[in-house]
Amino acid sequence: MSMKMSFVLAAAVACPLAFSQPNPALLNNKKAFVADLMGQMTLEEKVGQLRLISIGPEMPAPQLADEIAAGRVGGTFNSINHKEQRPLQEAAIRRSRLKIPMLFAYDVVHGHRTSFPIGLGLASTWNFEAVRRTARVAAVEASADGIDLTFSPTVDIARDPRWGRTSEGFGEDTFLVSQMARAMVHGFQNGSPAKRDSIMSSVKHFALYGAVEGGRDYNVVDMSPLRMYNDYLPPYRAAIDAGAGGVMIALNTVNGVPASANKWLLQDLLRKDWGFKGVTVSDHGAITELMRHGVARDEAEAAKLAIQAGVDMSMADQVYIKELPGLVKSGQVSQRDIDNAVREVLGAKFDMGLFADPFLRIGKAEDDPPDLKADSRLHRPDAREVAREALVLLENKEKTLPLKKGATVALVGPLADSQVDMLGVWSGQGVAKQTVTLRQGMGNVMGGQGKLLYARGANVTNDEAIVKYLNFLNWDEPEVVQDTRSPQAMIDEAVATANQADVIVAAVGEARGMSHESSSRTTLDLPESQQALLKALKATGKPLVLVLMNGRPLTLNWERENADAMLETWFAGTEGGNAIADVLFGDFNPSGKLPISLPRSVGQIPTYYNHPRLGRPFTPGKPGNYTSQYFDQPQGALYVFGHGLSYTDFTLSEVSLSSTSMKRGGKVEANVTVSNTGQRAGATVVQLYIQDVAASIVRPVKELKGFQKVMLQPGEQKTLSFPIDEKLLKFYDNQLRYVAEAGRFNVQIGLDSENVREGSFELK
Ligand code: BGC
Repeated sequence: MSMKMSFVLAAAVACPLAFSQPNPALLNNKKAFVADLMGQMTLEEKVGQLRLISIGPEMPAPQLADEIAAGRVGGTFNSINHKEQRPLQEAAIRRSRLKIPMLFAYDVVHGHRTSFPIGLGLASTWNFEAVRRTARVAAVEASADGIDLTFSPTVDIARDPRWGRTSEGFGEDTFLVSQMARAMVHGFQNGSPAKRDSIMSSVKHFALYGAVEGGRDYNVVDMSPLRMYNDYLPPYRAAIDAGAGGVMIALNTVNGVPASANKWLLQDLLRKDWGFKGVTVSDHGAITELMRHGVARDEAEAAKLAIQAGVDMSMADQVYIKELPGLVKSGQVSQRDIDNAVREVLGAKFDMGLFADPFLRIGKAEDDPPDLKADSRLHRPDAREVAREALVLLENKEKTLPLKKGATVALVGPLADSQVDMLGVWSGQGVAKQTVTLRQGMGNVMGGQGKLLYARGANVTNDEAIVKYLNFLNWDEPEVVQDTRSPQAMIDEAVATANQADVIVAAVGEARGMSHESSSRTTLDLPESQQALLKALKATGKPLVLVLMNGRPLTLNWERENADAMLETWFAGTEGGNAIADVLFGDFNPSGKLPISLPRSVGQIPTYYNHPRLGRPFTPGKPGNYTSQYFDQPQGALYVFGHGLSYTDFTLSEVSLSSTSMKRGGKVEANVTVSNTGQRAGATVVQLYIQDVAASIVRPVKELKGFQKVMLQPGEQKTLSFPIDEKLLKFYDNQLRYVAEAGRFNVQIGLDSENVREGSFELK
């Protein structure tokens, strides 16, 4: 008997229907391929495909391989290397009856092995090509680790910085976040998730997760349809229109119904209105949580609600596998509901190229990288370039920055030499030890000139309960390690160090875990330990430069008054320290702009710039009664959306419009000349805002509708043209019709959202 024959016989004995399997002849026709395969599947096998297992806690590996072989698992997440994935894929391909490949998913959020800046940092670049590049690099690295699918990008609009996941998204503005969403999807998928070095993008968290009440994670979301359609939904749509193959469903409720049981959201809106053709995935354990939400009385009802709403894959939830077969048999769930979900899961696997080659991203054992963590697997130059663009110069009094490389610099602060914090959260396979701290970066950039002195000065916080909380989060080992000296001893050392220096650089902010999932805060001040340090440093009379590391807007009132310069660096990633040092010493001229307003206080939240117009708006300079204001604090953001300084100066000309009227289907161009009037080359972001002067519903005071980042040599000027068409003027009206209404539109162009040049035109 030939070897081949014996294999066929053995297979036939083990599984009598072994001849049934994905039909390679249909690989050029997705619909037919999937239909053919589904025609061969039992109910149990179908339900198995809907199950996404969390590697580790949910199931030990050997049991998992058996479950896969039994056709009871569709994919895993958190298996991030070939050695783990290969036996699982082999179990699917060699041992399961239908040989349906597994998919391997992971949270590739702002990089994989190389960490790029967190979402807020990426958005601060206002450079979608740079952002696309970060996702491309991440996809190359993640696919090389066998990953097929990422739960990213996070495009939740965040207007309440108490929410810890503000860090992960791209800020408060619909237009900017939508641009970033598109760039990320293009980067991950690179035209097709079937390419070996592409990964499928699953946009999240659908929907409205950023609007959790009070910024408290997992809290309810209750929102008018107008706000939903005009402000919060477009970024998800942008990602889907850019081709995102997946959608992760949010953990929150949407107007009374949890997203994971929300038929309107997942079917009427997502599938019917938007035409989404990909796969939906629940968030971690979300189906079980339907019981805690109080909309399902037991697991069976939870499974039924979720599948009927349109949750295709259940993540880290046993409910589908346990309940769905019985529910179908008893007629409570239709076969059609199961089939609809299975079709999408198989379709996604098809789109990822897994049926054509289940080992596409796993490869052969002999090609496995000998050292997964090898430095040669990182993309350091990309990380440094993008991180430099992500830094926002908030303040620079008397040209304190850039620093001289020959100076004696006192570097202080609990974040000055922290590798792990520089990574930010959701840092994939980023390795803390491979991350460049500010201390290392400044040393590198000073290159032996001048003197770099260092003192820690303070712990991130002295509040032991907070430290305990932060160390309780997922990490393998405690990452907030307290210096056990007394706070005063640390401050004394820092002050003594500062006294020997020409200038102080204080790296202050949050431990990375403070801006994470479930890390909501009630205050946004720097922790007291750091405030005390800064006050003592200020008393030395030396110039004080703050390097802020944080994952959300902080309230920086004292800091604005007292610091000579402030650089917002978010969490800047693997090359963060080098990138920040490049800016501090002037090797790179900062060009980042805020993607989110920085409030003066928590009481003032929400502080977003594009709020709806009011009948009694506060009028600057006229602090009259009966206007919309807080009487105990100056109005408006401390630093406005779009703000960010440079080491050079830019001026803008008046706005000139190609016409004062626009016909339906026509176009108006807004032109402005930007000049570099300073001494250095530099880039800035010219921002276009539009205000609909009178409409059938109350519209925002202004909305970002375009931007261009330009690089100019000293003395150079460029005329920029912003095309405005009818589509840019559209919004959802009271009947949720997407319309541009006739009337006057103000056009505002500026280098931030507040200081603008204006023009206007009429839509006929
Ligand atoms: C988060 C998701 C993430 C998932 C898997 C959840 O807790 O909300 O954003 O993709 O875990 O790690």
